[in-house]
Amino acid sequence: APAVKSSCGAILNSDRIDGTYANVNWDELGFAPTPTDFMYIMKCSQGQNFSKGNITTYGNIDISPCSAILNYGQGLFEGLKAYRSADGRILLFRPEENARRMQMGAERMLMPSPSIEQFVDAVKQTVLANKHWVPPPGKGSLYIRPLLIGSGSVLGVGPAPEFTFLIFVSPVGSYHKDKKFLNLVVEDKSHRAFPGGTGGVKSVINYSPTIKAVAQAKDKGFSDIIFLDSTTKKNIEELSACNIFIVKGNAISTPGINGTILPGITRKSIIDLALDFGYQVEERDIPVEELIDADEVFCTGTAVVVTPVGSITHQGIRTEYKIGAEAVYQKLHATLTGIQTGRIEDKMGWTLEV
Ligand code: COI
Repeated sequence: APAVKSSCGAILNSDRIDGTYANVNWDELGFAPTPTDFMYIMKCSQGQNFSKGNITTYGNIDISPCSAILNYGQGLFEGLKAYRSADGRILLFRPEENARRMQMGAERMLMPSPSIEQFVDAVKQTVLANKHWVPPPGKGSLYIRPLLIGSGSVLGVGPAPEFTFLIFVSPVGSYHKDKKFLNLVVEDKSHRAFPGGTGGVKSVINYSPTIKAVAQAKDKGFSDIIFLDSTTKKNIEELSACNIFIVKGNAISTPGINGTILPGITRKSIIDLALDFGYQVEERDIPVEELIDADEVFCTGTAVVVTPVGSITHQGIRTEYKIGAEAVYQKLHATLTGIQTGRIEDKMGWTLEV
């Protein structure tokens, strides 16, 4: 097949590219990895700062069996999306917020982190190199996954001697494909986070402990679980991969950032949009009993965007939520995605053109 030169100068296998777009069935996208053409890698030694990274061909990486990430989970990830606007621009949403959150997490996990500028520049380079994989308008987005890992070898528990910052991308559709709303169950056996732990940063170690409880809930027909706080076991915290909001009258509430809640960028944006719409927003402890009286419950995250909840089961009692055409989540979802895709004027200055 004839070769095609990409925007970063590397040679692509042209049978995967058809004009503007890679050869993908855009209508079938869910939230699963699709290998793309390029990724970004930057390394640095302990005690040094990240200085120069490169775009390389997408593929497996070499890693020591003794690496700190494989043995002790010294690692963080981020998640953000690039959307293609109707007029053909490629837009990122608040990438400097992801950069800042990675810096906070790196501090907690004793790792060096890229500067805000390095992070945003690396995201832009990776998206540009893979621009054929940004779905057409209305067909999804390019999910961007930055990783920061202890890639050097250790045997005793301690920081890695070398760190790797890597970005890969994958086109995605809905996280909960084929589901209009979520049926959740309150988890009463395991917890996601605890005071003094890493629940408030995007450490890789926050996620694997949720896999079993979520799999068991899915076996029973639920979409995901709601974790309770591990101290009082009375207040809701979040789901396995997103934050939660409840609506009651004109008030919209979400658990406050207290060290065990992941400070979601979608969460923060939804709070700002809700305030703009004139809602009263409360960041506070939310006793699980409040779910029963809520008018509406919805979840937020980069992957799930804004997803409404249809039912919540707690101790065998199921509460159902009516999701009308005038639902609050709908208004917030439309405004958020309108800004992200360039359909609505971005008065907040949240989008960044690649
Ligand atoms: C995201 O929403 O981007 C996340 O990082 C959650 C992830 C577990 C899919």
